[in-house]
Amino acid sequence: MKRLARPFILFLCIIGISVLHYMTPLSLPFLHDIYQRLYYLPIILAAFWYGFRGGLACSIFVSIVYAPHLLFQWGGHVTMEMEKYLEILLYNIVGGITGLLSQKERERSAELQVTAKGLDESYKKLQAQSERIIAVEEKLRRSEKLSTLGEMAAVLAHEIRNPLGSIRGAAEILKDDYKPGDPKHEFIEIQIKETERLNRVVVDFLHMARPQPIDMKLCPVQDELETILFLVSNDARERRIKLVLHPPAVPVIIKADGEKLRQAFLNITINALQATPPGGSVIISTTIYQTALCEIRFFNTGPGIDAGTLERIFEPFFTTKADGTGLGLAITKKIIESHSGTLLVESDVGKGTTATVRLPMLDKTNGGMP
Ligand SMILES: Nc1ncnc2c1ncn2[C@@H]1O[C@H](COP(=O)(O)OP(=O)(O)OP(=O)(O)O)[C@@H](O)[C@H]1O
Ligand SMILES: [Mg+2]
Repeated sequence: MKRLARPFILFLCIIGISVLHYMTPLSLPFLHDIYQRLYYLPIILAAFWYGFRGGLACSIFVSIVYAPHLLFQWGGHVTMEMEKYLEILLYNIVGGITGLLSQKERERSAELQVTAKGLDESYKKLQAQSERIIAVEEKLRRSEKLSTLGEMAAVLAHEIRNPLGSIRGAAEILKDDYKPGDPKHEFIEIQIKETERLNRVVVDFLHMARPQPIDMKLCPVQDELETILFLVSNDARERRIKLVLHPPAVPVIIKADGEKLRQAFLNITINALQATPPGGSVIISTTIYQTALCEIRFFNTGPGIDAGTLERIFEPFFTTKADGTGLGLAITKKIIESHSGTLLVESDVGKGTTATVRLPMLDKTNGGMP
């Protein structure tokens, strides 16, 4: 719109000045001098807007419009009106030079824009690269942590698990000497529970640091999920949490190590239950994507996970629970990745959390049926 209006503005300007010129009697030469100079306004504007060609075209047009006034009104006397003829020459010089300069300036600013765009792209590339480097470093840090864990695991297994077994055995024997209700009976119960917890930590630790070879077999995902539901249903009832398992549209069969997969699903479900307040719900559902991928989503209502915590939940030993080991999700991620799958945890603070497990299906052509 603005661009379309420009030629009109120039045209009206030139015509307006010319009308003033032609209408003003010759007895007022000082007004003619002013109007004569007013022509520079459209010429410079045209040069500024349209560059060399525009400036020159405008100055030629001004010359054509101005010439009859010079020739017929002033008498066209070359020697007497020399300065007015020179003015016409000057119109064209000013139009041409101003146009050329503004064109150069415009080209330079276009070049600068291209350079700025290039710089912007390089900056974005650099940023992406540095993000990748940070991610690789983070992975490296984790794998370093894990290899140290591997070495420590062997020591722990020998030095802690065996004495733990003896402590628990001795506690079991002592327990028989005290009847339930006796305070000492309760202390021994606590002792047994705590040794069990310690043992669990060591077992988790061992699994984490020294992954067992996986035994891949055909595995119906829904059956595994039903087993998990059965295992945690009591816990869910006690916590007054609604536990729902939605069946997939078609049976989903994958090649997996059933025991490991169950462990992974159990860790996620227990986390979900622990995070759900009474009256809340945990919903598990399976979807198939393009017959090549199955997605198992574990959603739980609850306060969710803040961004800072979410960044760390896969770190070994990261926990926000008083009695947590912080190994659950680290082990789960390892298990899922050893099945060529992915584990993603997303959270909507104040609403809930979803852990999504994606696993490749057995056969891409028949909906996962073996
Ligand atoms: N569904 C969830 N809702 C909210 N927070 C979660 C959820 N799942 C995991 N988390 C957070 O991630 C942390 C790490 O989980 P992870 O399972 O690795 O360890 P943990 O549950 O704390 O301990 P453990 O599994 O050994 O009992 C948890 O402490 C918790 O803060
Ligand atoms: Mg856990």
